[in-house]
Amino acid sequence: MGKITFIEHDGTEHVVEFEAGASLKDIAVDNAVPGIDADCGGECACGTCHVILAQEWYGKTGAPGQDEEQMLSLTPERAETSRLGCQVQTTEAMDGMSVRLPEFQM
Ligand code: FES
Repeated sequence: MGKITFIEHDGTEHVVEFEAGASLKDIAVDNAVPGIDADCGGECACGTCHVILAQEWYGKTGAPGQDEEQMLSLTPERAETSRLGCQVQTTEAMDGMSVRLPEFQM
C-alpha cells in the first residue's frame, strides 16, 4: 500500500492510496480522479489515459512499448515523460509518486 498524487491541469491534487500491481489508469478511475477518460478500458488503443510523470519517477516506470509509443505520438500535449496510464503497472517503489494530468485527453 502506498500513495500517489494525481495533479489536474489546474493544480488540483488528489492523493490516493494504491496497491502495487494496479495500473495508474485503474488507480485513477477507481478513485474517481477527473481527467482520465480511458475510453478503451485499458487496451492501449485510445490514448485517453495520458499522464505526465516527473523526470525522477519516469525512470521507475520502464520504457513505453511500441503500441504505447504509437498512441503517444498522436497525443498533442505529449511531454518527454508522458506515458499511458493503462500501461504503467505500479510497484512499491512508486510510493510517493506525483502524476500530472494533461488539460485534454484525446
Ligand atoms: Fe485507452 Fe489507456 S485506456 S490507451
